[in-house]
Amino acid sequence: MGVIGWFRGKGPSGFGYNSTSDDVTQGFDLSDKTYLLTGCNSGIGLDTLRVLTARGAHLIAAARTEEKAAKALESVSAANGTPVACELSEPDSVRACVEAVQQTGRTLDAILCNAGIMALPKLTLQHGYEMQFFTNHIGHFILVTGLVDQLSEQGRVVMVSSEGHRLTPKGGIQFDNLDGSKGYNPWTFYGQSKLSNILFARQLSKRFEGTGRTANALHPGVIHTNLGRNMNNVLQTGFAAISGMFLKTIPQGAATQCYVAVHPAAATVTGSYFSHSNRIPMSRHARDYELAKKLWEKSEEIVSKV
Ligand SMILES: NC(=O)c1ccc[n+]([C@@H]2O[C@H](COP(=O)([O-])OP(=O)(O)OC[C@H]3O[C@@H](n4cnc5c(N)ncnc54)[C@H](OP(=O)(O)O)[C@@H]3O)[C@@H](O)[C@H]2O)c1
Repeated sequence: MGVIGWFRGKGPSGFGYNSTSDDVTQGFDLSDKTYLLTGCNSGIGLDTLRVLTARGAHLIAAARTEEKAAKALESVSAANGTPVACELSEPDSVRACVEAVQQTGRTLDAILCNAGIMALPKLTLQHGYEMQFFTNHIGHFILVTGLVDQLSEQGRVVMVSSEGHRLTPKGGIQFDNLDGSKGYNPWTFYGQSKLSNILFARQLSKRFEGTGRTANALHPGVIHTNLGRNMNNVLQTGFAAISGMFLKTIPQGAATQCYVAVHPAAATVTGSYFSHSNRIPMSRHARDYELAKKLWEKSEEIVSKV
């Protein structure tokens, strides 16, 4: 299957480019399931919230503030949900979220790490680290490692990465430039953060060996959402103009994360990378277990200090 979807047929899973979040969850009764979802209030996260609650699941819906999460639940008429605050760039907020989720006493069937930011035009630091790396990777690292024990025996961790993971600084992760002081490019730093999402899933998958738990990453497709908010106006207008013809709709964009989090056929797949609800190859750096191990150790070191 074509990575960017020029071939719009169906893959081995029976789903493909055009499949929507409704298609990949069709007929499922998820009323005994609980999912934690970050970035629930916008784009493909909001659609994931819509479809999983419509199938009966209880969603612990995380947004930067509890108000935003509550509004999102309200907007999809979810009868069944718990709003929680999780500002991923603030470790104290993420740790408070971990506690709030623990206090629900609910076992998690999946954690969907969907929230993200893209291509900040200027170097922005948070706790001394580049903002995209800190938000997209470190924030989710704190969240997931804090909640591993709350995952069910067959619990799934789903990292929303991007094909942008192929566009990274030399070496994949620039460990000696995580603060951007030796040079910054909005896109390669986005790529570095998205590569980190995959490496995290790969290392977690190794740690889950011998259990029924899984960890995978995915590319959702290219979708016109609020993610482009940091692109300049010309790029944003161009993106909006082509969206009808060349981009996925939001329910098509949400399909792959719903498939990986929920579909029985994905229950035992782990350490993999998906696009269009099918497994696809990942980059050389993403397959590098030594890099994944090094990133995990560096992340632990960072987290111990912030
Ligand atoms: N759209 C695409 O073409 C595309 C392609 C490849 C990968 N992706 C990935 O798909 C995921 C979802 O993106 P989207 O397209 O749905 O974009 P979106 O509409 O901008 O949604 C992003 C979500 O992340 C949240 N978020 C951003 N920074 C946060 C922070 N510091 N703490 C907590 N939440 C934060 C946003 O909250 P606020 O609304 O409060 O800012 C929003 O809910 C991202 O991980 C993105 O990298 C998207």
